[in-house]
Amino acid sequence: MEYQFSKDFLWGAACSGPQSEGSFPGDGKAEMEWDYWFQQAPELFYDGVGPAVTSDFYHKYKEYAGLMKEIGMNSYRTSIQWSRLIKDREGTINEAGVEFYNSVIDELLSRGIEPILCLHHFDLPMYWVEKGGFENRETAEAFAAYAAKCFELFGGRVKRWLTFNEPIVITEGGYLYKNHYPAVCDAKRAALVSYHLQLASSMAVKEFRKRGGKGQIGIVLNLTPTYCKEPENAEDRRSAETADLLFNKSFLDPSLKGEYPNALVELLKKEGICPEAQAEDLEVIRANTVDFLGVNYYHPRRVTRRSSPFTGPLMPEKYFEEYTYEGQKMNFSRGWEIYEPAVYEIAIQLRDNYGNIPWYLSENGMGVQNEEQFIGVDGIVEDDYRIEFIRDHLIWLHKAIVEGCNCFGYHLWAPFDCWSWKNAYKNRYGMIRVDRKDNCRLTVKKSGRWFRVTAEQGGFSL
Ligand code: BG6
Repeated sequence: MEYQFSKDFLWGAACSGPQSEGSFPGDGKAEMEWDYWFQQAPELFYDGVGPAVTSDFYHKYKEYAGLMKEIGMNSYRTSIQWSRLIKDREGTINEAGVEFYNSVIDELLSRGIEPILCLHHFDLPMYWVEKGGFENRETAEAFAAYAAKCFELFGGRVKRWLTFNEPIVITEGGYLYKNHYPAVCDAKRAALVSYHLQLASSMAVKEFRKRGGKGQIGIVLNLTPTYCKEPENAEDRRSAETADLLFNKSFLDPSLKGEYPNALVELLKKEGICPEAQAEDLEVIRANTVDFLGVNYYHPRRVTRRSSPFTGPLMPEKYFEEYTYEGQKMNFSRGWEIYEPAVYEIAIQLRDNYGNIPWYLSENGMGVQNEEQFIGVDGIVEDDYRIEFIRDHLIWLHKAIVEGCNCFGYHLWAPFDCWSWKNAYKNRYGMIRVDRKDNCRLTVKKSGRWFRVTAEQGGFSL
């Protein structure tokens, strides 16, 4: 069977500024939330490793770009760190930051790798955290101004922009499940943050268009297709619909259709946590939908109706329980389910319910603990599990494209092993190994060699 993709298909991988660059403090970079949080509570971070060095991309970007080329990537998504580009609330530019991002863009382009830039990957500068972060509408305005600066500085060479990476994770991580700063559990604050994140994204899109931005602008959403245990049971179906509303549609609908689903607004009102939206903000959201979508897909969500009444502070779990079943295929290491058909189902949803918007799989990946155990005699990580993981997702993506879905690329998370927030270097995701004990020495894994052949041939046959 042949799995051939179009000639201009994006073969690449994604990472982010805060997870790869390191170099804080240094070269005028301001503090962002993870720099701060790590200093406050290093014990929360796996192995006590914070964001100061990460994969040392700041110094090694040329070597990384060379290896990205070697593994066949024709595109790379990373993010600009707001805190590296802009020093303070007054908008003072950090010239060293401008120089760094200029050099990275030029280096990638010189090697035929398209840079796709995201403007925010969980890394709010502390000078805005101090003002309430995205609970404060001013932060949304500041984000739009920062975005405008980026378009002005780099717009000539960057053709695809993304406003936010996984905004729902900022909300749930910081304001519900305590995985991100400020690590509180408050549904009302969470709803307000979500609203301002959407507003910030739409305002950035507006800036892009106002400036006649060449190219396209999108947003990256992590979509978790939601399946209920007993589809014949109405309550079970409702639990899945509610989880889908809260975790997927809350950004998908306003970003792509320009409006919130009525059912979501009603739910938030019923709970007394619906933010007070200004009419002109809703108009900005309505008028500034994205050109394309980045979909991060790792695992689905399996839910069922609650078996016992919900107690405690308001959480999405009031409306469902998650469940596992025997025979469920799990990542042997990260604890996430592997369910490839969901990629196809996402694609069909986007085709049928969201105007067949152009999109790409902007993250998909397999985190593995203690990956050194798979190093073979030649010193190469023999990550056949990752090859299988990528290939099996591509098979479903291919089926979707054959059926008319508008998917233009596949990006693995990540090109190289990188720092993962509180998990630090626990789970390795890259096609390039980063040996942190040996001055971040880089070696291509078996998956990198496979990816090169696949990208060169534009697909594979089985
Ligand atoms: C995505 C994020 O949700 O998942 C990345 O965009 C993150 O920033 C990746 O690193 C993998 O998750 P984790 O928790 O295994 O590092």
